[in-house]
Amino acid sequence: MDKKFKRTLITSALPYANGPVHIGHLAGVYVPADIYARWLRLKGEDVLFIGGSDEHGVPITLLAKKEGVNPQDIVDRYHGIIKKSFEEFGISFDIYSRTTSKTHHQVASDFFKTLYDKGEFIEQESDQLYDETAKQFLADRYVTGTCPHCGNKGAYGDQCEKCGKDLSALELIDPVSTISNSKPVLRKTKHWYLPLDRHQQWLEKWILNDHKEWKSNVYGQCKSWFDMGLKPRAVSRDLDWGISLPLPDTEGKVLYVWFDAPIGYISNTKELLPNDWEKWWKDPETRLIHFIGKDNIVFHCIVFPAMLKAEGSFILPDNVPANEFLNLEGDKISTSRNWAVWLNEYLVDFPGKQDTLRYVLTANAPETKDNDFTWKDFQTRHNSELVAIYGNFVNRSVVLTNKYYNGVVPERGELTDYDKQTLAEFSDTRKEMDNYLDNFRFRDALKEVMNLARIGNKYLAETEPWKLAKTDPERVKTIMNISIQICANLSIAFEPFLPFSTEKLRKQLNIGKFNWSEIGSIDLIKAGHQIGTPELLFEKIEDDAIQAQLDRLQRIKKENEQKNWKPNEVKSTIAFDDFGKLDLRVGTVLDCQKVPKADKLLQFKIDDGMGGRTIVSGIAKWYKPEDLIGKQVCFIANLAPRMLKGIESQGMILSTVNSDGSLCIVTPQKQTRPGCTIE
Ligand code: 2FM
Ligand code: ZN
Repeated sequence: MDKKFKRTLITSALPYANGPVHIGHLAGVYVPADIYARWLRLKGEDVLFIGGSDEHGVPITLLAKKEGVNPQDIVDRYHGIIKKSFEEFGISFDIYSRTTSKTHHQVASDFFKTLYDKGEFIEQESDQLYDETAKQFLADRYVTGTCPHCGNKGAYGDQCEKCGKDLSALELIDPVSTISNSKPVLRKTKHWYLPLDRHQQWLEKWILNDHKEWKSNVYGQCKSWFDMGLKPRAVSRDLDWGISLPLPDTEGKVLYVWFDAPIGYISNTKELLPNDWEKWWKDPETRLIHFIGKDNIVFHCIVFPAMLKAEGSFILPDNVPANEFLNLEGDKISTSRNWAVWLNEYLVDFPGKQDTLRYVLTANAPETKDNDFTWKDFQTRHNSELVAIYGNFVNRSVVLTNKYYNGVVPERGELTDYDKQTLAEFSDTRKEMDNYLDNFRFRDALKEVMNLARIGNKYLAETEPWKLAKTDPERVKTIMNISIQICANLSIAFEPFLPFSTEKLRKQLNIGKFNWSEIGSIDLIKAGHQIGTPELLFEKIEDDAIQAQLDRLQRIKKENEQKNWKPNEVKSTIAFDDFGKLDLRVGTVLDCQKVPKADKLLQFKIDDGMGGRTIVSGIAKWYKPEDLIGKQVCFIANLAPRMLKGIESQGMILSTVNSDGSLCIVTPQKQTRPGCTIE
């Protein structure tokens, strides 16, 4: 760590308590933050790692309304689930609290009041939609209406899900309140704004000049905000869920969730250390690091620093290593579409495999660009890296030491050139890892440790001690001693990444935790030390476990298609005469066959009461030809003939298009004479 700092305060974004956490959260924020915290602790540095749930905001009130419960019930439920998941995955927070805590309400409220008293806000009136039936102002999400861009009738007040455009409720055509279904009216309301424009100059210098080392995705996003010019941001809302404004005559107004949430980092520190929290937030010798996802960049790099500066007594973040997004099997992770791997569900399907997920999510972390999680990659990395390299090497070392020496680590004899070459190969591992971790390059750091395991694995494979046991027992002692030392090195180097398997490894080696600086030593375990008994660190993941996950996603995809189905828009009105031009009739299928070399087509011979006709129809996916013979169909009798695969189709058979895209032939409800018209 930089000499000018005495301690490091690590924060990780507070997840909204309106759903469980998924692999995207873990990969983007919590695993990297945890690796960083564990690494610094192993180095003996003074570290605090702060977490908590973000329990305010409109989506929580919407979910509560949908379920007919109180917002407090929602956040109690999900705070519990999220906290448990983090514990289960070994995210080593020093505290995991919540923004509905008493401490937080007090700290956030005082923070607002300090800024208010210092004149750091501007007050402004604006028009907002108001529901006269429910007697409340409507947050954007509480309004639906017609999208001004694409005409979608069910657009939300903050976004149109059809065309994807961001909206404000005031832009919607024919807005309707989702609370009472009434038409809202415009009403004036007063809010407090943080004038970010006043802060632009120092913020711009602070980031663009003084923090050129920030990740390019973060730096670039900040620069584009500055280029657009910062504008005042409202820090209050008309809502009945949140922290009440500490000002007279402001009933029904609360702090905007993005104002109170980052203050949660401070409150949680205070809750943990009521008498000692200030040094972590106010002493310039503290280094503050925010781990977040890219959608939070503006709040952590611009808005929160402006709040801290305006307050006047706080330090600013030293770095904000935001990650990009993780996709799942090629599609954006989405809570509402259930397109995610939820941590609580993962552990039901893969009990005890926390480290596998931590490994895969780090090896494939979206550090510089969005990345994709696939179950196939998950299986491959587990089986061919964790099992075949790390696990295999450790297992062979522990098994052979037990077999040859009853588990007592043998003395090392003279080193051969090959031994020296092997040891030289990992002499720089710690330096390299430190360099990567210092720069938040977790993927590269993990590659270094895996490389150490690879070196060990190769060493055993090439020295083949099992072949020398009888002929050269002295040599075997040296090989096994070195192998056990490499295992001990792995127990340190993997610790920040895979805490569960390093714990298992320490147990097998019968050792405690070493210090990070000891990586590279080949004297970690003394000759004569008794190790424990072997136990596999990782077991192979079979194909059927992966297939079950792929099947689940396939099922969800289908369900979503069904759920999102809406009838096509009705075509423009036609005159009765236009309908009269269509000649629709009933016929009976005399013969039906597959059209060669055309998967989709069936060729029908129809009794049309007028001597018969041939019709080709793209319905083969849904019917067996033999099942249709003798059935009645409806067809267009006066459609101009068309050539399909060399066959003249004299009309078109009518079918319904179902919500899953399947086709179903329309048939008269009673037996009808072929040739009769449909009117
Ligand atoms: O995007 C989110 O999930 C927010 N709940 C993150 C808040 S981070 C911090 F400000 F608390
Ligand atoms: Zn639209």
